[in-house]
Amino acid sequence: QTGQPAAGAAAAPAPGASAEAPSLTILYGSQTGNAEGVAEMLGEQASARGINVKIVDMADYKPRQLKSETFVAVLASTHGEGDPPDNALDFHEFLHGRKAPGLKGVNYGVLALGDTTYEHFCQTGKDFDTRFEELGATRLTERVDCDVDYDDPAEAWIESILGAIEEKAGATAQTAGAAPGAGVATAKARYDRRNPFPAPVLENLVLNGRGSNKETRHLEFSLEESGLHYQPGDAVGVYPQNNPKLVAAIIEKLGLDPDESVSLGETETTLSEALQHYREITVLTLPLMEQWAAYSGDDELQKMVDNHSTLTEWMRGRDLLDLIETWPVEALGADTLTGMLRKLPPRLYSIASSQAQVEDEVHVTVAAVRYETHGREREGVASTWLSDRIEDDATVPVYIDPNKNFKLPDDDDAPIIMVGPGTGVAPFRAFMQEREERGAKGRNWLFFGEQQFRADFLYQAEWLNWRRQGLLDHITVAFSRDQEQKVYVQHRIREQSTEIWSWLQDGAYLYVCGDADAMAPDVNEALIDVIAEEGGKSREEATEYLRELAREKRYQRDVY
Ligand code: 2AM
Repeated sequence: QTGQPAAGAAAAPAPGASAEAPSLTILYGSQTGNAEGVAEMLGEQASARGINVKIVDMADYKPRQLKSETFVAVLASTHGEGDPPDNALDFHEFLHGRKAPGLKGVNYGVLALGDTTYEHFCQTGKDFDTRFEELGATRLTERVDCDVDYDDPAEAWIESILGAIEEKAGATAQTAGAAPGAGVATAKARYDRRNPFPAPVLENLVLNGRGSNKETRHLEFSLEESGLHYQPGDAVGVYPQNNPKLVAAIIEKLGLDPDESVSLGETETTLSEALQHYREITVLTLPLMEQWAAYSGDDELQKMVDNHSTLTEWMRGRDLLDLIETWPVEALGADTLTGMLRKLPPRLYSIASSQAQVEDEVHVTVAAVRYETHGREREGVASTWLSDRIEDDATVPVYIDPNKNFKLPDDDDAPIIMVGPGTGVAPFRAFMQEREERGAKGRNWLFFGEQQFRADFLYQAEWLNWRRQGLLDHITVAFSRDQEQKVYVQHRIREQSTEIWSWLQDGAYLYVCGDADAMAPDVNEALIDVIAEEGGKSREEATEYLRELAREKRYQRDVY
């Protein structure tokens, strides 16, 4: 178990809660755990205020129950093209279907999590908010749509929905003697997303060989004396720095002074420090575009801003420097500029190690992102910072981002099939280390793909070693550029359909990690083909079969 405090508080009413106290059902739809984390925070604070609380994963919620609820809080994140997270799919579909019940008498509030660089920002939260209202429910408080830096708006929303519940229930805010949240908070790790641990870099190696088109690194950080713990499948969050060259170019274009002092909420710093350490400059957001349009007074830009789809298309692959060059503005003050930019968000990397083996280290696999687009060389902020711009004795600000939706089976005897091309292989190294340490007897099968066998077989020696020991039963590789025809992991999956089906019959768990745009959907299709062909099912039945595996947590994905 993860040992997260609110898990225990979820089922039972808090000590201070009584039978007459209002009852709040908190439903979360969460992919990587952020919405779930806020759900737990809401739960703790609600219990502390004497409210009976139930925190429920949307996947486990019986939607027919909804009409008999009095107070419901919905917390949902959004992915890709406005899609709900996996655990919210069924609930979302049910509510929008013909069998959705009337919700008169139900009081609700929605917190939406998302990312303002996307056209369908917070779409799933918006869907729930609209749909509850259509079905006759009463909104307790305005929906809040959060960007990636969600802590403050989420806290404000929690305060507001709890206030509304208390008012509606006529219950006086009875602060339960010992607030359960209080003890819990101090027991938590000292370091977290808002207070990252400066982790010394122990190792920073290129994994690719000569002739590779890639630069994939293996990094090891020390967590010694941090009190941080993680499970295989979790991610590490890294606070990177922007490239000083890009920072300088932006400041110069705007005719500003890099040493001018600016204030960022609590911190006073210089403009160049602010842009290098604290503000996002490589990605454009919707609020920034809106403010830029207003500031520049440009009609063409204003028209684009009014039409989201042309706007998000323009934004894709462009950065702050492009914005300044395309729509120059005059006399923009340093404080105004930093005020328009969002905080530099941390970047997440799937952890490539198990603490059972590496103890107080954490390992990650990072591909340096470099490409050319819109007439200029571009680079991934964190990956190139880690590759090019940290000293050997540097420390990197990190925290652990737990992911309950990507976990080894509790049953050590269960077979697992891991599909991880490219850096998607990282968590499977963690899985194998963990299973090795635990002496797990379950069979293990890895599908790995990269461009070239000679140069790109990441962690080759380790896989072959595990294969030799017998811990790894199969390793099936797809090197896409070693022959005329591209070969990808999904081709190998189709070739191995009989064996995969037999593993599934034996209760195998399926894991997919890596590219979300092309690979994961292609692998999903291949799995449906395997199930249809070997199971003698229609495509529809096979799709449903795979969805059922996902519900049972036997099909888990960590894609980005
Ligand atoms: P490519 O670069 O030759 O196209 C890791 O990046 C591996 O994933 C590479 O071999 C890459 O091949 C491959 N890859 C690219 N697109 C893919 C897709 N849609 N599905 C699976 N693998 C893919």
